[in-house]
Amino acid sequence: MAATEHPTQRPPLNRRLAVFGTTIFAEMSALATRTGAINLGQGFPDTDGPEEIREAAVRALRDGRGNQYPPGPGVPELRTAVAEHQQRWYGLGYDPDSEVLVTAGATEAIAASLLALLEPGDEVVALEPYYDSYAACIAMAGGTRVPVTLRPDAGSGTYHLDVDELRAAVTDRTRLILLNTPHNPTGTVLTRDELSAIAELACERDLLVVTDEVYEHLVFGAEHIPLAGFPGMRERTVTISSAGKTFSFTGWKVGWVTAPAPLVNAVRSAKQFLTYVSSGPFQYAIAEALRLPDSYFHALRTDLEAKRDLLADGLREAGFGVFRPAGTYFVTTDIRPLGEDDGFAFCRALPERCGVVAIPNAVFYDHRDQGAPFVRFAFCKGEQVLAEAVSRLKSLASQGRWS
Ligand SMILES: Cc1ncc(COP(=O)(O)O)c(C=O)c1O
Repeated sequence: MAATEHPTQRPPLNRRLAVFGTTIFAEMSALATRTGAINLGQGFPDTDGPEEIREAAVRALRDGRGNQYPPGPGVPELRTAVAEHQQRWYGLGYDPDSEVLVTAGATEAIAASLLALLEPGDEVVALEPYYDSYAACIAMAGGTRVPVTLRPDAGSGTYHLDVDELRAAVTDRTRLILLNTPHNPTGTVLTRDELSAIAELACERDLLVVTDEVYEHLVFGAEHIPLAGFPGMRERTVTISSAGKTFSFTGWKVGWVTAPAPLVNAVRSAKQFLTYVSSGPFQYAIAEALRLPDSYFHALRTDLEAKRDLLADGLREAGFGVFRPAGTYFVTTDIRPLGEDDGFAFCRALPERCGVVAIPNAVFYDHRDQGAPFVRFAFCKGEQVLAEAVSRLKSLASQGRWS
């Protein structure tokens, strides 16, 4: 601000955040509501998670568990359940008292981790396209993001990480790698070889890694492998997950961090000044959810895999190029076979053209041109909803070029 500038003449929003505007999800969900279109934009299921887990939340509310501030690190029942979950699925041992932190969804875990671990000027290497909160949180922490672009391969219908590009992106200023696997929006699940190369790089350059694994249970024919289990990684990895995707309760905002005590303590220092605590009764319910039998997790996968196939096949028949996801509940498509190349214009017109809402992948890129012709559809919806969306999308081919 210039010395003569009056404070009220300055824009209310600071420069670090002004560039981000309103999230595309809000814009597109509002468009869906206004037009009555089928919303395959934002990633939330259209049915709630298991009835017994809803009941567990009601019980907690009625019994007065969690109605007042829960403990800062999270209720012991949930911290223990998170530690058990990491052991049960991945053989990773964490101490529930010192190595687990409960957060307001993965969103707060990401924000608190970056605010805690970064000094202004630190570089963060992140896989592009990336979930939109990453860029904003890196900016709030005063860090600099260094994107490494996942490359689409139309032939195989998948995206790939070029490990040499990742290696080249690391400088003396790099503080951490921010990873997301299974990956939103491309549906890529990083392979053992890719993760092993990332682990080697992190050890060699003495980097921290923050890894967002919220889609850990949504994998189809692929294996989700936590980075923390690779040699040398436990002590340098902050693993983030949450209940929203796994249990279809995205509104409850129960997330968690697992990491060695010094890293958990650091993240907690930032977290205590963000929400301090959240979701009291829901924490008890999610402790029960994490202990559901294997059959729950398998059924979730089978159900979503069928929906993936329904939407991916339908989109291909409708003329889109399709990247069939190995994980998450999103399908990325290429709109160029439809004669279009501007995902923004395409998504803004789509509700009017055929009554469907999708998200332009360009919003997940620094290099917007790299994402321009790609559009993301969510398949965490009822089969009838997906079938109706597909039938509407099939009308596009006969409409000719729009944007
Ligand atoms: C990659 C990724 N990370 C984090 C989140 C947010 O998780 P939560 O709802 O637990 O805050 C999402 C939600 O869409 C996501 O896609």
